[in-house]
Amino acid sequence: MPEDHSVPRKVERLTEFQGTDLHDLCDAAEAAIVDGGGFGWLAPPPRQMMESYWKGILLVPERDLFVARLDGTICGSAQLVRPTRNNEAGAAVGTLSTFFLAPWSRGYGLAVQLVERVSKGAREAGLEVLQLDVRETQKRAIHVYEQLGFQRWGRNPRYAWVDGDWVSGFYYYRDLDPENEAS
Ligand SMILES: CC(C)(COP(=O)(O)OP(=O)(O)OC[C@H]1O[C@@H](n2cnc3c(N)ncnc32)[C@H](O)[C@@H]1OP(=O)(O)O)[C@@H](O)C(=O)NCCC(=O)NCCS
Repeated sequence: MPEDHSVPRKVERLTEFQGTDLHDLCDAAEAAIVDGGGFGWLAPPPRQMMESYWKGILLVPERDLFVARLDGTICGSAQLVRPTRNNEAGAAVGTLSTFFLAPWSRGYGLAVQLVERVSKGAREAGLEVLQLDVRETQKRAIHVYEQLGFQRWGRNPRYAWVDGDWVSGFYYYRDLDPENEAS
């Protein structure tokens, strides 16, 4: 665990890249992918493709990008995916996706802060439920989700194909109404 807990840290919604933000976000994602990923990529894509991906996220109307900063440097992120306008039945349900922290920024409490910030963003957007799915191998992430009251409702034994094997995935939801939320 990191020892210096006086290092300034914060999480925020990002609507434009400034300074070294894009570069730092790419570096953080690459480091997390090389460490074992868990959020889609199995190997880092070429840098130009990674940059295009993050630039594209800011342009998608239904996606909000949240980042974590340690000493000002972006070290991880998470996204809130809001339902598309044609999805009337799912209009109150959002999805948390692409959640990671670079290995060097783990253990500072930023994971809980990021998921809480996404949940706050979802409430502000009028959503009542936040859902997500995760590989069963991502123990730290699962610990964070369950700590924050996410309820597991399902398991898919053929969720992800990793290194020549199927890996199971778990499905979770969180009721964003504090009155309904499990303690
Ligand atoms: C998920 C992730 C963002 C969590 O960030 P983190 O900084 O490692 O989180 P923390 O250090 O706060 O650890 C989270 C909790 O898991 C616990 N934990 C650590 N290692 C663990 C393990 N092997 N098994 C179970 N729990 C573990 C920690 O003790 C902590 O619990 P606590 O708050 O009760 O002490 C980060 O590990 C990551 O980027 N992982 C790879 C990507 C990923 O799995 N994303 C999720 C995809 S859905």
